[in-house]
Amino acid sequence: MIIEHMSIEDLKQVADIEMEAFPYDTWKENNFKDELNNTELAEMFVLKDKGEVIGYSGIWYMFENCDITTIAIKKEYRGNGYGKKLLKRMMNSACEHECEFMHLEVKVDNEAAIKMYRDFGFEVVRTRKRYYTDGTDAYDMIANVIPYEEEIEEEKKKIVLAIESSCDETACAIIDEDRNVLSSIVTSQIDVHSRFGGVIPEVASRMHVEQISTIVNEAIKEADISVDDVDAIAYTVGPGLIGSLHVGATAAKTLAFFYNKPLIGVHHLKGHIFINEMIKEIEYPLMALVVSGGHTELVYIENDDSFKIIGTTLDDAVGEAYDKVARVMHEAYPGGPVIDRLAKEGKEHYQLPTPKVDGYNFSFSGLKNAVSQLVKKEEKLGNEINKNDLAYAFQETALNTLVKKTKLACEEYPCKSVVIAGGVAANSRLRELMEENFSDKDLILPPLKYCTDNALMIACAALHYMKHDKYIDLSTSSKPSMSIEED
Ligand code: KG4
Ligand code: ZN
Repeated sequence: MIIEHMSIEDLKQVADIEMEAFPYDTWKENNFKDELNNTELAEMFVLKDKGEVIGYSGIWYMFENCDITTIAIKKEYRGNGYGKKLLKRMMNSACEHECEFMHLEVKVDNEAAIKMYRDFGFEVVRTRKRYYTDGTDAYDMIANVIPYEEEIEEEKKKIVLAIESSCDETACAIIDEDRNVLSSIVTSQIDVHSRFGGVIPEVASRMHVEQISTIVNEAIKEADISVDDVDAIAYTVGPGLIGSLHVGATAAKTLAFFYNKPLIGVHHLKGHIFINEMIKEIEYPLMALVVSGGHTELVYIENDDSFKIIGTTLDDAVGEAYDKVARVMHEAYPGGPVIDRLAKEGKEHYQLPTPKVDGYNFSFSGLKNAVSQLVKKEEKLGNEINKNDLAYAFQETALNTLVKKTKLACEEYPCKSVVIAGGVAANSRLRELMEENFSDKDLILPPLKYCTDNALMIACAALHYMKHDKYIDLSTSSKPSMSIEED
């Protein structure tokens, strides 16, 4: 609830309230316009709730006196002290104008208003017979002008509750429209999946089912809000594992249905991009190198609502290749962090084929197979593999391809900033190479804690969906292979 100076844009709503409050001596929009133009003597205020005008008032200044010209509150908001808020503001404005006395007229039968004025020190000084066109008398009331303390009420910030369950993290986060984090809870299933050497979809869905209610409840509890306070429910609608996506979708839809809240279906990779706004504003156009367990894409983002895929992998995603390479080297899942660590100790030794794909597309299966064959061959010969050197060779080949193509893309598509997004963005060598190659751009490297899947990223993306009024209904299905170009 805020009070601000009335503007031309408010007049339509003000005139509607005027008609409802004063059906006899009704001011038309033009009367209000005259008051607004009379900036020397008149001041007009509106009381707004989430942008909607729910009351207004006007005052005239005449040296040490001032006159309340009008005051009205929309019918359904009456009886809640909103008139007092406007009166306090006018008393304070009168103080600023160095007025001593405030005058007003009120219908003699308007008991509620007369009581409120008396509370402000107004006294009846005379009665004006048949002052109003319906024949009613008016009281002239006068009070001394004194300052009042106004409760500064900020307009309530919009709140989003977001759920992520596309792969092996179950997460729920609650943020406000200024990205203040009220809560963010993530549980990872990595320990379980690492026993199997990768994500087993059925196991993932089961674990989401076990976790989801607890996680959502915890997030609500930690945020210290009720779902009633939330302005939208967001969830990852795709891409991801269908069973896993479905668990988050069901939770989000149930909340949206039960609490009658708008629903937002967020693209997972947009989450990986927009989470960076937790750190700084994104300048467009933006080139995004999306590198995760399921995706490797170059996405040209002209503004926050325009995504164009200019390159994609023709086979494995780079994260997937990391995981598979780690597996053939008998290392744990997820392979990315392991290879990253091993490669740090490695040196140039093994030769691996550089993927050869035209344009901005990628291919990692050839590289992955080359590693696999090399390992098998050496094992057959009874030779020990230097894991550090092999990790180094794989990583240098894979990452150099990614960075080279991103650089080429930035030459053809003019962009102000470049971002890496997705799980592989945590890779220390990739971050190093990006810094070496994109010093001329605003380079956005997501903080490590935001590289793994979480629900904060879904909430951050949801704010953009809200901005563009992109809501979905309960009939929307999860989309396991959703493109980032889709709404
Ligand atoms: O985005 P993400 O958490 O899940 C998907 O949406 O796919 O990405 C997971 C992928 C895994 O393949 C994992 O091995 C990889 O990100 N990853 C890394 C690193 N940390 C995670 N890859 C390379 N280097 C890392 N440090
Ligand atoms: Zn992800």
